Amino acid sequence: MTSAQGKTVLITGAAGGLGKEIAETFLAAGANVVICDINTSRLTTTNEEWSKSHPGKYLTHQTDVTSESAIQDLIDQTIAKFSRLDILINNAGIMDDFSSASTCPKPLWDRVLSINLTGPFLTTKAAITQFQKQNPSPGGVIINIASIGGVLGFQAGVAYTASKHALVGLTKNTAGFYGSKGISCIALLPGGFAGTNIADALQGGMNMEAFQALQEARPSKVSGSVKSIAKYCLYLADDNIAPGANGSCVVFSHNYPEA
Ligand code: NAI
Repeated sequence: MTSAQGKTVLITGAAGGLGKEIAETFLAAGANVVICDINTSRLTTTNEEWSKSHPGKYLTHQTDVTSESAIQDLIDQTIAKFSRLDILINNAGIMDDFSSASTCPKPLWDRVLSINLTGPFLTTKAAITQFQKQNPSPGGVIINIASIGGVLGFQAGVAYTASKHALVGLTKNTAGFYGSKGISCIALLPGGFAGTNIADALQGGMNMEAFQALQEARPSKVSGSVKSIAKYCLYLADDNIAPGANGSCVVFSHNYPEA
């Protein structure tokens, strides 16, 4: 029996990409899994798959993580189905177009900050409120999927970089305030990995000049796999690991760029 057996985990942006792999890893470990995403067609596909493989063990919900009322509705539905919430994984996120400060359009800045930072703030707020109501064991675990762009300044554009650095700040503040109350908060900072829909955000075009400057400074490398990151999330969420890892911001990047 794993530590996730019978626990309820909520994962944002999980109808595809890394989030879906994390969800399936927790399902395989015996957890109840709640996912939300904004993308309806991916939610429908996931529902069709899981209704056969994991009946009764999951809930899917269309939720925009930037809406506080939608998140509360998601938490309410989670409690209605599974009675409690134990683990929150903030995975939903989008790329920017690589623009730097003088060229980043304000609407792009607002959108990236809203999904990558305000979303995790709102879900953290709602999840902690729920964790603290629960009896017995009013604790919980929050894992924030940041990026090496959360500690390195020149891996992406200004909006993505600022959002992931700030997500590290959200993680550390939450860990500091709630650690003694039985709630652990950890950031996982992966390097590049393939097999996801992250490039969706580039459909509107890329800032090629900024992208080339970035590539000249440090060519990007894709070496991670969603499977290994998902397994690491399961490990970090373990009752015996999470309190010790509280406040950690763990780089998981195949030593890229070299330490
Ligand atoms: P992805 O695009 O496959 O997954 C992100 C999901 O979030 C999508 O399914 C999307 O529909 C959903 N989403 C977008 N806006 C949303 C909103 N407002 N509300 C709810 N859901 C929303 O991308 P991927 O690669 O799986 O990314 C997952 C996380 O990993 C992101 O936070 C990303 O920044 C981070 N990351 C990704 C890396 C990569 O190389 N792909 C590297 C380092 C970190």
